[in-house]
Amino acid sequence: MAKFFQERARKVESVGLTRAVIYQDKHPDLAERRDAAEKARLLPILQLHDGLRVLDVGCGTGRWTKDLTGNSAYYHGIDFSAELIKHARASHPQDANLRFSVASAENYSLPRLGESRPFDRILCCGVMIYLNDEDVASAYRCMNSVASQQCRILMREPVGVLKRLTIKEHFSDELEQNYNAIYRTQQELEECMTETLFASGFRVVDQGDVYEAELNNRAETIQRWIVLERT
Ligand SMILES: C[S@@+](CC[C@H](N)C(=O)[O-])C[C@H]1O[C@@H](n2cnc3c(N)ncnc32)[C@H](O)[C@@H]1O
Repeated sequence: MAKFFQERARKVESVGLTRAVIYQDKHPDLAERRDAAEKARLLPILQLHDGLRVLDVGCGTGRWTKDLTGNSAYYHGIDFSAELIKHARASHPQDANLRFSVASAENYSLPRLGESRPFDRILCCGVMIYLNDEDVASAYRCMNSVASQQCRILMREPVGVLKRLTIKEHFSDELEQNYNAIYRTQQELEECMTETLFASGFRVVDQGDVYEAELNNRAETIQRWIVLERT
């Protein structure tokens, strides 16, 4: 997967910061409408307010950064792609309350991120789809280890509607790149949380579809969001 995202980072020049991470290379209008619709739907769900510490897992070029820094005290974006993090840093002004780090979603901790306090909000959009099952479980373990007692975790993932779909080395005409992804069912994603997030008291407190039907161009997969809190 690292090579795929290296290539996405290279494409920032031709498609821009947003499309580099939400794709639709040949349909800029759809990409922009999806970006706007997703943020309109998800930002209120995050319930941001002053004083919060926010972690953005798999932040890419920092598509969410401005929205999250405007409404919180501290933002840390992490991504395993050094090239995408370079773009994120270059497009956001240096600030003591804004950090980007190169780190894998399945292997980080507060000390490894140079942090001493846990996070109150964790956002993770469109990342699990690129991880194998073992790494999805590890990613949840990492989230659990950096979450404050009152943490609200918001995940947005493309999921298989009826069943899991695996795409292997499929040449995408849209992206002009080979594509690999696992569209798990929502149930599968939640089952992976049993030993980590659920065991430490997190529960799914809300969930929904991200887009209205007209912005969803496939029947087998759909963008879902779920929110977890300790109840
Ligand atoms: C579809 S993009 C979404 C980016 C961002 N979350 C957004 O919503 O704009 C997927 C992101 O996941 C990152 N990613 C994929 N696998 C990862 C991993 N194992 N650890 C950390 N980041 C990963 C990619 O580098 C890329 O930035």
